[in-house]
Amino acid sequence: MKLADNKATLSFSNGSPSVEMPVYQGSVGPDVVDIRKLYAQTGMFTYDPGFLSTAACQSAITYIDGDKGELLYRGYPIEQLATNCDFMETCHLLLYGNLPNAAGKAEFTKRVSNHTMVNEQMQFFLRGFRRDAHPMAIMTGLVGALSAFYHDSTDINNPEHRDISAIRLIAKMPTLVAMAYKYSVGQPFMYPKNHLSYAGNFMHMMFATPCAEYVVNPVIERALDRIFVLHADHEQNASTSTVRLCGSSGTNPFAAIAAGVACLWGPAHGGANEACLNMLEDIQKMGGISKVGQFMEQVKDKNSGVKLMGFGHRVYKNYDPRAKLMQETCKEVLAALGLENDPLFKLAMALEKIALEDEYFVSRKLYPNVDFYSGIVQRAIGIPVGLFTAVFALARTVGWIAQLNEMIGDPEYKIGRPRQLFTGSVRRDVLPIAKR
Ligand code: ACO
Repeated sequence: MKLADNKATLSFSNGSPSVEMPVYQGSVGPDVVDIRKLYAQTGMFTYDPGFLSTAACQSAITYIDGDKGELLYRGYPIEQLATNCDFMETCHLLLYGNLPNAAGKAEFTKRVSNHTMVNEQMQFFLRGFRRDAHPMAIMTGLVGALSAFYHDSTDINNPEHRDISAIRLIAKMPTLVAMAYKYSVGQPFMYPKNHLSYAGNFMHMMFATPCAEYVVNPVIERALDRIFVLHADHEQNASTSTVRLCGSSGTNPFAAIAAGVACLWGPAHGGANEACLNMLEDIQKMGGISKVGQFMEQVKDKNSGVKLMGFGHRVYKNYDPRAKLMQETCKEVLAALGLENDPLFKLAMALEKIALEDEYFVSRKLYPNVDFYSGIVQRAIGIPVGLFTAVFALARTVGWIAQLNEMIGDPEYKIGRPRQLFTGSVRRDVLPIAKR
């Protein structure tokens, strides 16, 4: 961290002495005021629920400029990565900081491919779930259970363990997601085929059966790969911060990533693509496009509690650059599969058009986020709605593990321990039960 020339001074209106705090500069983005000694110097905490103004760590992985609508992985714009690189190159970049050359990519891909199978015992563990269990409930369990199968890579203080568990997690997530799906539809699990690409192999494990030859459709393969690239990392979002906080206690990487999966499940985060599709299906049931206006009135009515899922973002207050790329893919996939006239997709396009022109959304800078389109693409591909967030988790695993490993390698890292503003009862005495 580089010290800025200026310092911050905090003064108090009650005459308490003011305190000076150092200011640090990053390579780009807002400076930060270092408040670490504030409590020792003043006996006060800062108050920032939702982390609206708090940098919880230093990181060199992903940078977002929400006003410009810019997303960089290790300095590279997401638009360039999405059009020039595939997911394996993106994983290498996020984990090791550089884009591999052809030989480096082949070696990395081979390492990942070598770990695509899961312990055979895993299927018996999976069979303990109800067939209709939510895939994210299954994924939270399966990912956490990996720590019980790979005891040889759970020491986070050992860099080799950290590296091999990163590779294992990236390699096994598609297998686990596909197994969760196959289990829910009662089809046999399909073992990975390592000659296929990462996305192609996932499609094979999802959609192939032992009775027929399965041929990977290159348009869908490319679309899935793009979904993976666009979702690979996103700075200190809720699930990544969860992984960091969980991992800060020294727990093993599989347990920390399972915490990330659990956090991602929520509809305000990764669950938005599922929530968005459910919303579209609800409007469809109400009467479809003719009811869009009525639905929008509910969205704008604060008392209704209805939100336009797939719109808005905590950081992007201009547009989500991933959404633009996903919209492109969406059009490509719908055209390739001849689904342009599907009523649900038409409904989504009608909603998008109204929201982009409506004063409520324009004045609040609410634009479609990546999940608006990724849900539509996934549905077109044939991925069931309930599995959408698990696909997001699959893609985000590399970001989580890169961020976790960065934190553990940071000499300044400490166990995360937020403080609070206590508003409960002050000390009081317990009355004997007869007197309460
Ligand atoms: N529909 C209707 N109104 C909205 C929406 C929405 N989707 N999103 C925000 N608003 C309104 C808010 O009510 C608020 O209005 P007000 O100023 O009149 O009170 C204003 O826009 C500002 O929104 P905030 O709630 O302050 O924005 P915040 O940063 O807290 O929330 C969030 C961001 C959670 C993503 C929100 O936009 C939302 O719930 N969107 C729908 C869920 C979704 O799509 N999440 C995916 C996020 S992307 C991802 O995880 C990959």
